[in-house]
Amino acid sequence: MKMSFGPPLCFLIVLLLLSLSLLSVSCRGQEQENGSSGAPMERREQEALYSAIQGFVGRWWNGSDLYPDPCGWTPIQGVSCDLYNGSWYVSALNIGPVYENSLNCAQDAGFTHHLFELKHLTTLSIYSCFLSPHQSPVRISSFSWGALSNTLESVEFRSNPGLVGMIPTSIGSLKHLQSLILLENGLTGPLPLELGNLISLKRLVLSSNGFVGQIPPALGGLSNLLILDCSRNNLSGPLPLTFGGLTTLLKLDLSNNNLDGSLPRELGNMRNLTLLDLGGNKISGGLIEDIQGMVSLKEMVMSNNPTLRGELAGIEWTNLEDLEVLDLSNTGLRGHIPESMTQLKRLRFLGLSDNSLSGTPPPKLASLPCISALYLNGNNLTGQLDFPGTFFSKMGRRFGAWNNPSLCHRLPLTPSSSSSSSGADAPFGVRPCSREGNASSSSNHVGSSLSIAKISEGRDDLHWDLQVEVSVGCPSRGGDGSWWGSRGKVTMALVGVALIVVFV
Ligand SMILES: *[C@@H]1O[C@H](CO)[C@@H](O)[C@H](O)[C@H]1NC(C)=O
Ligand SMILES: *[C@@H]1O[C@H](CO)[C@@H](O)[C@H](O)[C@H]1NC(C)=O
Ligand SMILES: *[C@@H]1O[C@H](CO)[C@@H](O)[C@H](O)[C@H]1NC(C)=O
Ligand SMILES: *[C@@H]1O[C@H](CO)[C@@H](O)[C@H](O)[C@H]1NC(C)=O
Ligand SMILES: *[C@@H]1O[C@H](CO)[C@@H](O)[C@H](O)[C@H]1NC(C)=O
Ligand SMILES: *[C@@H]1O[C@H](CO)[C@@H](O)[C@H](O)[C@H]1NC(C)=O
Ligand SMILES: *[C@@H]1O[C@H](CO)[C@@H](O)[C@H](O)[C@H]1NC(C)=O
Repeated sequence: MKMSFGPPLCFLIVLLLLSLSLLSVSCRGQEQENGSSGAPMERREQEALYSAIQGFVGRWWNGSDLYPDPCGWTPIQGVSCDLYNGSWYVSALNIGPVYENSLNCAQDAGFTHHLFELKHLTTLSIYSCFLSPHQSPVRISSFSWGALSNTLESVEFRSNPGLVGMIPTSIGSLKHLQSLILLENGLTGPLPLELGNLISLKRLVLSSNGFVGQIPPALGGLSNLLILDCSRNNLSGPLPLTFGGLTTLLKLDLSNNNLDGSLPRELGNMRNLTLLDLGGNKISGGLIEDIQGMVSLKEMVMSNNPTLRGELAGIEWTNLEDLEVLDLSNTGLRGHIPESMTQLKRLRFLGLSDNSLSGTPPPKLASLPCISALYLNGNNLTGQLDFPGTFFSKMGRRFGAWNNPSLCHRLPLTPSSSSSSSGADAPFGVRPCSREGNASSSSNHVGSSLSIAKISEGRDDLHWDLQVEVSVGCPSRGGDGSWWGSRGKVTMALVGVALIVVFV
């Protein structure tokens, strides 16, 4: 058994070695730009770098001893340099355990003023560094951000539970900042209005902290913003009407907060928006017609807003033809499932569970070409679930219709063909339509329903083949999205490795 693991492991190691050698080649490239004599670097810049790093990794770290030429022949993992006027300056500083030889933080890590003396710093990233909110909490230094206002383009503080307190208002001076990511830290307090001064911002991610209060309307002035993610905080109040100004936005995620009020009509201005996630809030007032304006929408998640209410029928769903994921579970929806929803040809996920929907589900839902999960459970749907048996067996538990007391299916009770047993095909938690319940039913009726089922299954075998062909054209999740992208790449890499292994 052990032997069978040999080849894949070997290949992984070979791949690792390959990528390592590639890495070292690219590192050497930088160093050879100015001969092997050692790159020139202002003494002040060099000292500032050593001291700034020492602030994070601890006093024991002797930079001048370990890395006498940090932008040249003794590069520091996580530090990048750029040439200005013939001298090297630090352009990027990445602290935290990304690679084995990365700069790891000491327990008493903190910001020092030396950090703000790095004249050409464009990127600052601190990952998994401040870890204990109780023993050694650290605040985002409020003093010298202005010193970096002409250079800093990207700030990322991620997974630092010990990074506490408020976002300092001085961060608003970073007028060249394009990306501000404060993800999974212990930050609290209201969001400063000064965030609205970061006019170059393309990406603002404040997810998974303890922020409270309203979303500052000033954020609506960030006219270059592509991604806004304030999910998993404790923000309250309504969505600002100023959000209508965020016409460039591609992704808006405000899920899992305490937001209330109704959906602003201005949302309809976001014509390039591909992701809207407002799930897990207290939004009310129903689905407004204006959401039809978000014509690029691929994913719309409003689930777990039990106060939303309203109906599906008010929306012309055909205007949202790019929709791939639509989750409206637990939103207090009433009324019927409109036929126009069966025109959403790219839909892969449709969640309508735990609402008060009534009527009979349109049979055409089962022939959505890309559908791979459909949840109708926990409603008040009635009548006959007129989906083919092949649909149920294809979907398995990714089809949900249980907890609809008056809904029934009409699949045959005995195996109708050798290939499929009807017992396995029947949708979970849905009872067969009762013959006795219908006064007009007779043994004759049962026979005819059986043969109808046979015919429909025959037709659907063909349909299934078609579906497989069509589904090749179905977009897959994570094509272009930034945060799905990395997952996609990992998968690609795994597939690559698997292919190589198979080849050998
Ligand atoms: C290399 O460094 C010297 C100073 O030591 C400087 O005059 C020269 O311009 C640099 N060359 C390049 C290609 O950066
Ligand atoms: C670092 O090491 C050098 C000699 O290798 C020494 O002169 C210097 O004082 C040390 N600096 C610190 C801060 O320990
Ligand atoms: C380059 O040097 C000139 C003159 O010494 C100075 O005015 C300019 O600000 C410097 N540029 C940078 C990017 O440091
Ligand atoms: C969130 O804020 C509300 C008041 O707006 C407060 O009642 C609640 O306890 C807060 N929840 C958390 C987890 O801080
Ligand atoms: C929307 O996207 C298109 C195509 O990517 C682009 O040309 C257009 O400028 C965008 N609109 C806004 C308001 O950014
Ligand atoms: C379900 O629908 C029936 C009539 O179709 C109605 O009498 C009943 O009140 C509804 N139940 C709920 C929970 O909406
Ligand atoms: C009962 O049968 C009649 C026709 O005989 C039909 O119109 C009616 O829809 C059936 N009811 C149910 C609940 O299937």
